[in-house]
Amino acid sequence: MHDQLVTRLEPRSGEPWLDVATGTGGVAIRAAAAGADVTGVDIAPGMLEGARAKAPQIDFKLGDVQELRFDDESFDVVSSCFGFIFAPDHAATARELARVCRDRLGFTAWEPSPELRDLYDRFDLDQPEGRHPFQWGRPEHIDELLGEAFDLQLEHDLWVLEGADGAELWEFWSRSAPPFKAMAESLDPEKRDLFRAAYIEYCERYRAGDRVRVPRRYVLALGRKR
Ligand SMILES: C[S@@+](CC[C@H](N)C(=O)[O-])C[C@H]1O[C@@H](n2cnc3c(N)ncnc32)[C@H](O)[C@@H]1O
Repeated sequence: MHDQLVTRLEPRSGEPWLDVATGTGGVAIRAAAAGADVTGVDIAPGMLEGARAKAPQIDFKLGDVQELRFDDESFDVVSSCFGFIFAPDHAATARELARVCRDRLGFTAWEPSPELRDLYDRFDLDQPEGRHPFQWGRPEHIDELLGEAFDLQLEHDLWVLEGADGAELWEFWSRSAPPFKAMAESLDPEKRDLFRAAYIEYCERYRAGDRVRVPRRYVLALGRKR
């Protein structure tokens, strides 16, 4: 998905490019390799440490997408792979993305999943509707918040997470997805064990032979500044 996002944003040599909620820099590193002049921003110092260790030549900065410390239109391209969707104030986030972007915006967002919603609800893990990250996977939401500033093109795609069993997929998310890890850690140990078991059971619904293949729908949004 990092490759997909960078390719679809058509990097050009020397272009200022901001990757927001960059994590350990998966998109930033690919955009820089394609010639862009990349800055990565993330709210989590630990993620930035990982990014800097992988790519010391890239400018990785601590920052909040809801309040970016950059001048208006300072980046030709703004990208985010399952990143800014986790910031709670969606309107402020959208305003900031539109403000700092001069030309192209590209991001991926998980679509709402009734199955996951049921699962999270059982453990009181869901967030209020308006601030929920999966809201960014709804075309109406994207259009409402970004449609005035950008001419938008939305594509729906499917990602399949595959492993030997549900326990392996639980480990994958706990290791590589800070929002998932934080959600699980917000539970007391006993409830966390129950949540883990319920998550594994959800994955096992997608067993085919000796593998589980859990499908997850997402939106790839591309915008051109009006
Ligand atoms: C699922 S990770 C995705 C990381 C990266 N974009 C990638 O594709 O590997 C979500 C990232 O969003 C960051 N994040 C969450 N809220 C943020 C905010 N308000 N401002 C900046 N980064 C934020 C987290 O620290 C985390 O690194």
